[in-house]
Order: sequence, then structure tokens, then C-alpha cells
Amino acid sequence: MTQRIVSGAPHELDQSTDTSLRPRRIADYIGQDAVKNLLAIGIKAAQQRGEPLDHVLLYGPPGLGKTTLANIMATEMGVRIKITSGPAIERPGDMVATLTQMQEGDILFIDEIHRLSRVVEEVLYPAMEDYFVSWVIDKGLRARSMNLTVKPFTLIGATTRYGMLSPPLRDRFGNIHRLDFYDEDAMTTIVERSARILEIQADPEGVTEIARRARGTPRIANRLLRRVRDYAQVIGDGIITADLARDALRQLEVDERGLDGTDTRMLRSIIEKFEGGPVGLDTIAASISEDSDTIEDVYEPYLLQLGFLDKTPRGRVATRRAYDHLGFEYTKDNPKSAQTTLF
Ligand SMILES: Nc1ncnc2c1ncn2[C@@H]1O[C@H](COP(=O)(O)OP(=O)(O)O)[C@@H](O)[C@H]1O
Ligand SMILES: [Mg+2]
Repeated sequence: MTQRIVSGAPHELDQSTDTSLRPRRIADYIGQDAVKNLLAIGIKAAQQRGEPLDHVLLYGPPGLGKTTLANIMATEMGVRIKITSGPAIERPGDMVATLTQMQEGDILFIDEIHRLSRVVEEVLYPAMEDYFVSWVIDKGLRARSMNLTVKPFTLIGATTRYGMLSPPLRDRFGNIHRLDFYDEDAMTTIVERSARILEIQADPEGVTEIARRARGTPRIANRLLRRVRDYAQVIGDGIITADLARDALRQLEVDERGLDGTDTRMLRSIIEKFEGGPVGLDTIAASISEDSDTIEDVYEPYLLQLGFLDKTPRGRVATRRAYDHLGFEYTKDNPKSAQTTLF
């Protein structure tokens, strides 16, 4: 599959802007007020007690600012951060080595923490709870386990798949925070901030056009901003106006609500082939030749957020909003009651 311009996951080309645009301090981190306030209190309390921060789990769709928050927490606490990921820690020994190298108060950030293997995860449990790891030395009859102490540290885990985290791991986090898609105000502020940092000239209406189509996701906003800037530079006079932003985004096949061809194809398929649903995830997947997991992780969250899609026990349903958006006539006036009369 080619990379979608509206994907929340990082593209290779995002790297340099992701870094230059990443807020460094909590005061620069826009939106997510509830999470931000709780973390700020946690940080202050830990500092006052002179203790490390409680372990933190951050979850939510890609591109919403999990890695950014982890880095901010290290800066605010004035501690070092070691960044790794679930798939990178292959063997229990790797985890033991990482943990025993941590200094007091350090943050260990494990991205995609749901992808840790079971045996590696088990090394983490006593480390998180009581700051020690058990390490088996020797083999066969002479095998014995040795406990090594670990300095008090903070684990920050990030995941896009909360449901795939094992319950014992989940239970060991003192703070669990979900990041939500950003509202339009926050998105506007984020695009303004990025334009300022990248020294891009944009009208307020041009900013709004980009903010509105970025699926509530800062990483996508920054990517669209860069692409629209290229367009302004080559086709226009370098300034991002509303018209220019609209033209550019139309060419990139991002519609007014941030949907791309695949989103539209999926909604159309539900409406045209399955009378708006309910239809099972696997059936939808087959009808548009995508796999079910990709639909569930990548396409659905934003469509659910927009209220274009409903999840029911009998399958997915395209809502009246989806019909309106795609220009279909909505014929089922009360789909819920029509459904219940079937029984
Ligand atoms: N709250 C925010 N305010 C401003 N920019 C943000 C915010 N959250 C994320 N970003 C931008 O989006 C990019 C992607 O964020 P990141 O933390 O890497 O997301 P995640 O780890 O959840 O996939 C960052 O580089 C940053 O430029
Ligand atoms: Mg990340």
C-alpha cells in the first residue's frame, strides 16, 4: 500500500519537521488539557517529594503527541529519557540490561509497548513494582535465579492498541491517559504555531482550511502544511490563502473533512453494496480489498469520531451524516427501530 497523506503514522519525510516542530515544554503543548493538567500535577507532586514520577501509560491513535509528551515529561522533571520500543527489545536479557543501566529518576520510554513479548514483559513486572529484576544464570540443574536491584525509575509506555495490552502490565501503571483527536480550535493553534516556526506565510482562512482537514491529528496537520506550502511556492506567490489551500488539498485528494479515497471507498461500499449496514467488518474488508485490522486501526477511529460510522453488535452502520457528506439520499429514517423490528 502506498503511504496515505492522511495517515497518522509517520512518513519518512516527516522526521525533520516532527523534530523541529515538537513542543519542548508543557506550556507549548497545545490541547489535551485534561491529560496535561493531570501530568503537570503529577510532575509537581513528584518533584516536591523528591521521588520519580509514577509509571505512565499513554494511548491513542498515531500522531496525537504521545512521544512528544514523554519527552516533555523528561524535560519538566529534569531527568534523562531512554527511548526504545516493544519490537526492539527482543530478549529478556535486553530488558534486564536496559533496566539495570537506568539511573535514579530516569525515564524509560517504550513505544508500541503492546508489542513486547510475554517473556520480556515478565522482566518488567517486578522492576515496575519493587525495582528489581530476576535473572536466571546457568543452565539445567545448576540454573538459579538472581535478583538485581534497579534504581527507582519511571516507565512511560505508549500504544495505539490499548486492548492488546496484557492486564497484568496495564495494572502496573499508576497513570493511564487516553489522547483524543484534537478539536478545531486546538488544530488551528497547532497549524498557526507550525507556520510561525517554519516561517510560512498563511492567511487565517488558509490555516483553518488545513486545520479542518487534518483529522484532528497534529502530525497530519504538519504534513499537510508542508505540502500546501510547496504548492503555494510553485503555483502561487508563496502565501497560503483559503483558495490556494483548497486547491492544493483537492489535488492531494483530501476532502473537506479530511477523508481520502480509501475512507470514501469504504463508506460508499457500505452504503451502495450493503444498504448502509449493519455489515460485518470482514465483509467490508473483503469488499474493498483491505484487511480487517487495518480498517479497525487506521480507517475507523476517525470515521467514528466524525460520526460517519456506528459500531453496532451486528456490524458497522453508515450514518445519515455519511450519506449527506457523500451526497447520497438517506432513505432509512430510523434505522435503529427498523433493526429491532427484525426480531
Ligand atoms: N499537543 C501538540 N501541540 C503541538 N504539536 C503537537 C502536539 N502533539 C503532537 N504535535 C506534533 O505532532 C508530531 C507527532 O507527534 P508524536 O508525539 O510523534 O505523536 P505520537 O507519538 O502519538 O505518534 C510532533 O512532532 C509534533 O510536531
Ligand atoms: Mg510516537
